[in-house]
Amino acid sequence: MIDDKALSRTKRRIHSALEKQFSDWKKEDFLLYTARVERNLERLLYHLDSLYNNQPDWYLFAEKMVIEAGKSWSKRTTVLRAVDIEREQSPTWFKSHEMVGAVCYVDLFAKNLNGIKEKIPYFKELGITYLHLMPIFERPKGENDGGYAVSSYREVDRALGKMSELKQLTKVLRKEGISLVLDFINNHTSDEHKWAKEAKNGDEFYKDFYFFFPDQNIPNQYENNLREIFPEIRRGNFHKNKDTEEWVWSTFHNYQWDLNYKNPEVLIAISQEMLFLANQGVDVLRLDAVPFTWKRMGTDCENQPEAHSLIKALNAVARMAAPALLFKSEAIVHPDEVAKYVSHEECQISYNPTTMAMIWESLATREVKLLKESLKNRFHIPADCAWVNYVRSHDDIGWTFSDEDANSIGIYPAGHRFFLNHFYTNDFTGSFSNGKPFQYNPTNGDLRVCGTTASLAGLEQAIDLNDEGRINDAVNRIILLYSVALTIGGIPLLYLGDELGLMNDYSFEKDSSKKEDTRWVHRYSMDWEKAKSAQKGDGIAGRIYQEMKRRIWIRKNTPAFGSGDIELAETNNRHVLGYLKKHGDEKIVVIHNFSEQQQEIRCWLSIGVDLLTKYQVDLNGVITLDGYQSLWVKLDE
Ligand code: GLC
Ligand code: GLC
Repeated sequence: MIDDKALSRTKRRIHSALEKQFSDWKKEDFLLYTARVERNLERLLYHLDSLYNNQPDWYLFAEKMVIEAGKSWSKRTTVLRAVDIEREQSPTWFKSHEMVGAVCYVDLFAKNLNGIKEKIPYFKELGITYLHLMPIFERPKGENDGGYAVSSYREVDRALGKMSELKQLTKVLRKEGISLVLDFINNHTSDEHKWAKEAKNGDEFYKDFYFFFPDQNIPNQYENNLREIFPEIRRGNFHKNKDTEEWVWSTFHNYQWDLNYKNPEVLIAISQEMLFLANQGVDVLRLDAVPFTWKRMGTDCENQPEAHSLIKALNAVARMAAPALLFKSEAIVHPDEVAKYVSHEECQISYNPTTMAMIWESLATREVKLLKESLKNRFHIPADCAWVNYVRSHDDIGWTFSDEDANSIGIYPAGHRFFLNHFYTNDFTGSFSNGKPFQYNPTNGDLRVCGTTASLAGLEQAIDLNDEGRINDAVNRIILLYSVALTIGGIPLLYLGDELGLMNDYSFEKDSSKKEDTRWVHRYSMDWEKAKSAQKGDGIAGRIYQEMKRRIWIRKNTPAFGSGDIELAETNNRHVLGYLKKHGDEKIVVIHNFSEQQQEIRCWLSIGVDLLTKYQVDLNGVITLDGYQSLWVKLDE
């Protein structure tokens, strides 16, 4: 570890390098930037040291990073500089009941970036303040993993628009109170990124940006411990590149090449791409596939300590040169590993894949014990951070609950995952769900599930059967799941289209670039006709839309829903979840019945008013809930 002497020597050296480099800056600019450097340099050095101290002159990399960051900062607009200061003064600005997120693919939702701008009134009506546009960057034609193969972080894909339009969009969104979230896919680039092209041409500098192996000897040694992400598409984590005849590390698809962060030049280059995006006015970068960035022989190469140091180093650079920027972590792994990415020095916000999977688990079993256990043991994160609570994303659902939690309440984990996969792919008697299996691994039996919220929740089947009762249940299930996301704390995230109950789209099966990837079943085009009639309250979509909107706005008026922590409340009924949310004197008890049957619960709380119905409810006694009913009870003081 870096000792105090070396630390102050390095700090001094970097300071004089900055003085030299930025001698032509205005004095107040220099003071502002160097003050931010001063506040964050020690931790940057600490992390770089832990990553690269095996390299003789590693501190020169630190110097380069800080200088390059300064150049980026000098290009930051006045507006963004003001946002920087504002957020430095209120660093937990994103932790508010008024925050409501939404996510979509630009092309499927609104054709292009200009189309997104036109949809702002739709977002406003739904109370959206956080908009995640899935990958918009240049990507290979044909297969590109929905844009998660990036050929340039600085160019918008031509079909979607131009970088200048993105910049313009961030300005308009900001005026409307909507923060823009973009993916930062920094575990890998596409094989058409200029770094990869140079590497294919044999350029040694860029070859070292990736992992090349002359034969399969070393890959096979790694492979002993690696997971396979898309085993139906390709076995293993490496492929042989046609141009160089070498083996390339590609965890996801052959055209997504893992970056080699053991090479500090990669981190420096990536920090530049990050700051470029921040300067376009992006508020949040969703760090894609964070567990995979550091490889260590003999391990599964996921969640290595260095994977954390890399993000923390980037976080320190962001605090220097774009302090308004937040990181959102995408780690779909064991709950305890997910939580490790969440801190103010690393990712301030994170997907909450555990609660997401557990609400689906409760819906299938009609029991809340595993959900309760996971909330009890795995929900807590630091107070200055927030979960992003979602029901569906563009990816599959994996049953990533903790085996320990399951075992402790008598659930056999492997058998339970087997059951859930069969239940949600309509391979279980009585299942209401029309999901699709995703990436079966014949070696270990692993499987995940795809499908839209509505189809997984039974709407597709109910409509096929033309059964009013089942339609009701399905609608209620959709509302129930979103009721959890809206009230449990942090930022709720709406997968756009869910507010209309959009169902599975099977057309991908006919598209050769998509047919092997069942995730496309839930990546539908927005149905604007339906949206229009739903806004008037027509049809099933209208019922879902109106109720969803109503609940969003109730949430936005209830400060306790923005706060992070929950206290579980005993309902004395195995089908019913209860929790308490607090903010100052405000106390809200939220109760969810995960069964279609009426349920009686017994609580020892007090009297309050249900925010959903405005009726008084006595939570000190026995009450009856309808199937799938939620109560959001504000307790009297
Ligand atoms: C993330 C994305 C997923 C993509 C993968 C590889 O998990 O959410 O869609 O396939 O990363 O980039
Ligand atoms: C796995 C990975 C996650 C990825 C997903 C794509 O769950 O952990 O990062 O997005 O697969 O299907």
